[in-house]
Amino acid sequence: MNNIIIAIDGPSGSGKSTTAREVAKRLGYIYIDTGAMYRATALAFQREHLNFEDDDFRKLMDSITISLENTVKGQRTYLNDEDVSDLIRTPEITKFVSPVSANGIVRDKLVDIQRKLGEKGAVVMDGRDIGTVVFPNAHLKIYMIASAETRAHRRTLEMKLSGMQADEKEIKKLLLERDEYDSNREISPLRRADGAIEIDTSSITIAEQTDLIYNFALHCINEVNKL
Ligand code: DC
Repeated sequence: MNNIIIAIDGPSGSGKSTTAREVAKRLGYIYIDTGAMYRATALAFQREHLNFEDDDFRKLMDSITISLENTVKGQRTYLNDEDVSDLIRTPEITKFVSPVSANGIVRDKLVDIQRKLGEKGAVVMDGRDIGTVVFPNAHLKIYMIASAETRAHRRTLEMKLSGMQADEKEIKKLLLERDEYDSNREISPLRRADGAIEIDTSSITIAEQTDLIYNFALHCINEVNKL
């Protein structure tokens, strides 16, 4: 059996997405960026000028479809049939997504989609609650962390590279605010799952963290095969 489920959680800027994408590629697995699904929901919520009321969230979640597609250009995110992959990366959506993702109605629907996408295995899924809620029985759970300085620096470079303006100090402030919000919300707060391997990426390269997780995955596949 080669089709394990790999859950990678951690705060923003810890290197989850880059590593998860690369590990999935090496293993020939599907990569699923669950943050993109919450971002697409936040975009829909913002466009409809809704209030933070359960009725509004219910109506929204009954009327939208969110899907991911793996293409040669990387993973694309669709809101209904619109490719919103770039629109969901703006600082405005980044700010807006935490309160939207804290809502239970939103989480129930997205967790349901994520479980269906991952149930057959051969998947690397990254987010905040993958090892705790979405797949608590994942074969391999990783919890990635890094210092706030490192994470802010990475986000600044990423934004500059994609042509956006970026002020590192402001980014660090927003990042810490989002950490606080995501870690203290009532439903599915960000925390290390039982049995998760913690990796601090502050002073290792992307290549090193990818190798590390890839090797854990190979070991895990071997162990599962022995059963
Ligand atoms: O990983 P990201 O920055 O793209 O995630 C965007 C937001 O979505 C983040 O503030 C927390 C939320 N999120 C979540 O609550 N649960 C997940 N599984 C993934 C993301």
